Amino acid sequence: MRVLATGRAGQIVTSLMEVAAQRGDLELITIGRPEFDLTKPIPMRQAIIAARPDVVISTAAYTAVDRAEEEPALAHAVNVVGAALVAEAAASLCVPIVHLSTDYVFSGDDGGPRRETDETRPRTVYGSTKLEGERAVASITPQHVILRTSWVYSPFGTNFVKTIMRLAENRESLSIVADQYGNPTSALGLADAILRIAAELPRDRFGVYHLAGAGETNWSGFARHILNISRTYGGPFSVVREIASADYPTRARRPQDSRLCTDKFEQTFGWRLPAWQASTEAVVRRLLQMRQHSGVPAADGIGGG
Ligand SMILES: NC(=O)c1ccc[n+]([C@@H]2O[C@H](COP(=O)([O-])OP(=O)(O)OC[C@H]3O[C@@H](n4cnc5c(N)ncnc54)[C@H](OP(=O)(O)O)[C@@H]3O)[C@@H](O)[C@H]2O)c1
Repeated sequence: MRVLATGRAGQIVTSLMEVAAQRGDLELITIGRPEFDLTKPIPMRQAIIAARPDVVISTAAYTAVDRAEEEPALAHAVNVVGAALVAEAAASLCVPIVHLSTDYVFSGDDGGPRRETDETRPRTVYGSTKLEGERAVASITPQHVILRTSWVYSPFGTNFVKTIMRLAENRESLSIVADQYGNPTSALGLADAILRIAAELPRDRFGVYHLAGAGETNWSGFARHILNISRTYGGPFSVVREIASADYPTRARRPQDSRLCTDKFEQTFGWRLPAWQASTEAVVRRLLQMRQHSGVPAADGIGGG
């Protein structure tokens, strides 16, 4: 099976490359900038058609949640128009598409965990464009799986786990928001799930699904878990001080309750992602090994949506 994934250095596409190489039973082709740019329709379409995939995985997206508030046109061009063009290319090849989306399609104000049938009400430019992108993909091809996920982390790219590890290198304490709840999700677990479902996509399984790490926490609890594992394995440690969202204002307001109900996925495919604590431990241990080998912390920035 030839699988085409969009994006070059993103967390999920990098995880897909690693998991595909470990599996060894499928051919994964990735396409990214500069030759594949979601804002450049003609070369973008040509790149997809030329790859002749059996399935398309649409991971590339505008993911800068705060910056999107200042760049709504670009976020729309990538997350709506670009997503639609990828779906059109998949449809013209008569192949299915797995399209990544986000918990930010919900407001997060009114209690989770959210089901696929719950009302969407994005409060950010990022969330609005991702929702519009979902709708465009669904209207273009019935052969779609839209996977909404949340709080993604991995040894790659930019994410919360790497940021906490980096900050702990030289701070005794960290102030972390304790009133936003969600499901941390390993990009490696997600990549494994995407490739598994891509291989078994009969018609009656198309639709929208929520898929996130099992279990829930808040950002403060997530940070504490990361740091406790780090300390256990000889890595950096800081004390976590709990703060309220009001004490950490961001340009785009984060959902208070990002939890996703993954029952539909589990009932359809017969399994779910592992508990977030175990997946986080694996990533923290790997980051510590990378740090040992390089002599510097491999971390930068804070996660997207
Ligand atoms: N990260 C999260 O917490 C999270 C949560 C929920 C849902 N998601 C969704 O999951 C998907 C992947 O997320 P991620 O964490 O892997 O994101 P990421 O690490 O920020 O990577 C984004 C990818 O999109 C590519 N991209 C951005 N603009 C592009 C453009 N104009 N043309 C072509 N490629 C472009 C980037 O290309 P370069 O490699 O060239 O930079 C990169 O490969 C997205 O659909 C996102 O909405 C993410």
